[in-house]
Amino acid sequence: MAITASKDTTADLVMHDPVWQRIREEAAAIARDEPLLASMAYAAVLHHERLEDALSYILAQKLGNAELPPLGLREVIQEAFASDPDLGHAVRADLVAVNERDPACRSFLKPLLFFKGFQAIQNHRVSHWLWQQKRETLAFLLQSRGSEVFAVDINPASKFGRGILIDHGTGVVIGETAVVEDNVSMLQNVTLGGTGKETGDRHPKIRRGVLIGAGAKILGNIEIGEGAKIGAGSVVLIPVPPHCTAAGVPAKIVGNCECEQPAREMDHGLPFHRD
Ligand SMILES: CC(C)(COP(=O)(O)OP(=O)(O)OC[C@H]1O[C@@H](n2cnc3c(N)ncnc32)[C@H](O)[C@@H]1OP(=O)(O)O)[C@@H](O)C(=O)NCCC(=O)NCCS
Repeated sequence: MAITASKDTTADLVMHDPVWQRIREEAAAIARDEPLLASMAYAAVLHHERLEDALSYILAQKLGNAELPPLGLREVIQEAFASDPDLGHAVRADLVAVNERDPACRSFLKPLLFFKGFQAIQNHRVSHWLWQQKRETLAFLLQSRGSEVFAVDINPASKFGRGILIDHGTGVVIGETAVVEDNVSMLQNVTLGGTGKETGDRHPKIRRGVLIGAGAKILGNIEIGEGAKIGAGSVVLIPVPPHCTAAGVPAKIVGNCECEQPAREMDHGLPFHRD
């Protein structure tokens, strides 16, 4: 007898996906306790089998408009998640990152539904996938809609790792040749931009576990080494070695980071000056 692959039931899919399971539990509690939000909890979460389906619905609702009909956009986002399973893994890692590192967040559901930094990263993941498929016009349209809706402007060509937190989101700008590696955290109004003096590969490379404070401008094709910290409001024009702290305008190295991955611990403390 031929063995046919059975289609996973919703219960199977939920059981093997703890992040999705937690989101569904939180949505069920909201549907029960907050009648005004019950239909949203069903439409955005409880009607869907997978986190990817829920996120496709949520992003399409946020970003769709007359030029970009939500139904068609939802299909494109689902196509991206179906074609590259790593996107779904990255979404889960980003949700865990928000939950671990944002002291104001004690939920997996709230970032999914409401946090524009998280939603902007997921929009970028889809626009980057489109850009890789040579569907540049749609990729740039998504960038533009993300900028209008989330106030976060990320060029589709820029490369993102996973487990990334953009807290608050407002005013973040990330240029074409920027790289943001795994477990980076940044706050609002961060720019990863060019100096205006370079062409081609002209944007910063942010290595694993870097923490970038609010309003920092990191300019040029410079490397911010693994586990470094950038002070709020700094203008960084020079490379920052791993596990060092840079602060000021223009930024200088002001010390070493005590912790291994400041982005994960959200350790904003400035070290004592080195002699
Ligand atoms: C100011 C700027 C145009 C460079 O001008 P420049 O005349 O070529 O200046 P240089 O790079 O030679 O730097 C001269 C000095 O000014 C400092 N400096 C440069 N840009 C600075 C800035 N934005 N803020 C503070 N100091 C700055 C440099 O550290 C350097 O100091 P030093 O002489 O003590 O080493 C460039 O650094 C800049 O800020 N560009 C804006 C780009 C931008 O807005 N990008 C965002 C894109 S999204």
